[in-house]
Amino acid sequence: MERAERDGRFDHLFTDTVRETLEDDAYGAWRSAAAEDAVPLGLGFPYPESFPNDELVEAAAAIFETEGDVALQYGGGEYADHLEEFVAERARERGIDCTEGELLLTNGATHAIDAICRTFLEPGERVVVEAPTFMGALSVFRNYGVEITGIDVDRDGLDVDALGAELESRRRRNEALPTLVYTIANFQNPTGTTLSGERRHALLDLASEYDFVILEDDAYGELRFDGEVLPTLSELDDEGRVIHVGTFSKTIAPGVRTGWVIGHEEIVREIRGVAAGGANTFTRGVLGRYCAEGHLDHAVPELRRAYERRRDHLLRCLEASMPDEVVWTEPDGGFFVWVELPSGIDTEELLPRAAEEGVVYLPGSMFYPGDRGGNGLRLSFSQAPPEEMERGIEALARTVRSALPAE
Ligand SMILES: Cc1ncc(COP(=O)(O)O)c(C=O)c1O
Repeated sequence: MERAERDGRFDHLFTDTVRETLEDDAYGAWRSAAAEDAVPLGLGFPYPESFPNDELVEAAAAIFETEGDVALQYGGGEYADHLEEFVAERARERGIDCTEGELLLTNGATHAIDAICRTFLEPGERVVVEAPTFMGALSVFRNYGVEITGIDVDRDGLDVDALGAELESRRRRNEALPTLVYTIANFQNPTGTTLSGERRHALLDLASEYDFVILEDDAYGELRFDGEVLPTLSELDDEGRVIHVGTFSKTIAPGVRTGWVIGHEEIVREIRGVAAGGANTFTRGVLGRYCAEGHLDHAVPELRRAYERRRDHLLRCLEASMPDEVVWTEPDGGFFVWVELPSGIDTEELLPRAAEEGVVYLPGSMFYPGDRGGNGLRLSFSQAPPEEMERGIEALARTVRSALPAE
């Protein structure tokens, strides 16, 4: 779908932050005709067969039957309340203790991130993110007009030593310190890497020393396939500095857009106050019933197995087809593999050619706060049918070979 030509007639009315992004078209590069038939390895969409359609229909019918009009009223019914208890109980099982006042349901993780930004960030303040990081969070931060510092990610997640050095140097130069550090500690989007246990402790020490809050986005936390289960930052935090965010987008469906924030009561109270838009209590009711029936408990282990098979398959395809010069990550969970091509190859420029060859990925530059990431790209193993992945990766390999300098 091509974007319509702009005539800019309202530009003078927009805010400065909106004006700065008027020409951005995050997904534009792959919206070519060829992309329609290409294997979709770009977006972090769950595969459609993972959606629990029947169980959700059943849950919706049941709440109409048992809760009548209340289910559709402001405030919702009992099952909407039950969802809150369910999320709290599940968090406890993962080591995150939370009382009623420490939990807030939101309309998805991105809504939660937005409300956290509104609570903590003034324009011009500083936020630290992993580089690369989830582009949806980057665009929320940009909306708040904050300065964004990217700290590199390596195979053990955020380079916490590099963050420490950056903070020390800022303090020495009397420069503003960040208010908030955003991290996706488990199976990061887009690299698939996981923050090591040691670094989790070190990050919390830095938060205490330099007085910032940590936004822990755990969108993929339930989807670990192998490796050691690590405690969340929230569990390790004894100062109340971690604000933990979760979502059902990856374990039920993005269309239900329901997530949560867990944090110190004083923080959650303020987030609750600024989280505009109200609650989708009907959806919460349906999900409350769905979870009460035990469907989520049953679905998550199945999803783990299904995504593990998909990851294994994608990695095998990469191994079989990619030229030696190309490297990639091997995630223990989540949806993504990060691929690096030899430096000098620009994956944004290469994308139309890849789409013609029959594959779509997301170029690395989309995931960086600054002008970086040119030779990286994100592949997702969540959406495309496994039998198409091979065709997609072969198309990618042909595209990459055509871009390598001649011997
Ligand atoms: C790290 C991360 N956080 C949040 C989200 C989105 O969550 P939600 O659909 O609940 O807004 C995604 C999905 O792409 C993600 O990768």
